[in-house]
Amino acid sequence: MFSPTTYDWMDKRVAYDALVRDLTHLLGDERDPVANASQAAALVWHALPDLNWGGFYFFDGTELVVGPFQGLPACTRIALARGVCGAAASQRASIVVPDVHAFPGHIACDSRSRSELVVPIVSADGALRGVFDLDSPTPARFDDADLIGVEALVAAFVAATRW
Ligand code: SME
Repeated sequence: MFSPTTYDWMDKRVAYDALVRDLTHLLGDERDPVANASQAAALVWHALPDLNWGGFYFFDGTELVVGPFQGLPACTRIALARGVCGAAASQRASIVVPDVHAFPGHIACDSRSRSELVVPIVSADGALRGVFDLDSPTPARFDDADLIGVEALVAAFVAATRW
C-alpha cells in the first residue's frame, strides 16, 4: 500500500531530490509507458502543492494525445504548432510560463491555469515521446528550482520506461 509522503518545499532542491528517489523506487522494474506515466502523475499530484493539472501528453507521430494525468478532463489532442505543450515538444526544450495569458497561443484547457511548466519527453534513442505538463492556479508558480526538479523527475521516468 502506498502512503503519501509530505515533502518540505521550503528547500525545493532537497524536496525534488527526495521525490526523484521516491519515483524511481515506485516505478521499480516496470517498463510500461502507461503504467509508469500513471504512477508518476499520481505521485507528483500528491507531492507538489498548488497544482490544478499535472500529467502527460504522448506524441503519436503527428500530434500530442492526452495520457495519464490528474486534474480536470483536458484537451484530448494538441497539434505541435499549438500551445505551450506543442512548443515544448517541437523545440524539445522545457518551457516555464509565468503568465499563461501572456503566452501567444496558450490553450486554455482549464480556465484556472495561470502558470505552467512543460518538459519534453525524449527517449534514449532520441525519439520525441511526449511532454509532461504541470499547471497552477497561481501566477509564476514555477521557478528555476522547479524546472530543474521536474526535468529530473522526467529523466527518472524516461530511464525506467521502454517504448
Ligand atoms: N495549457 C496547455 C494545454 C494543456 S492543458 O493545460 C492540460 C498548453 O497551452 O499547451
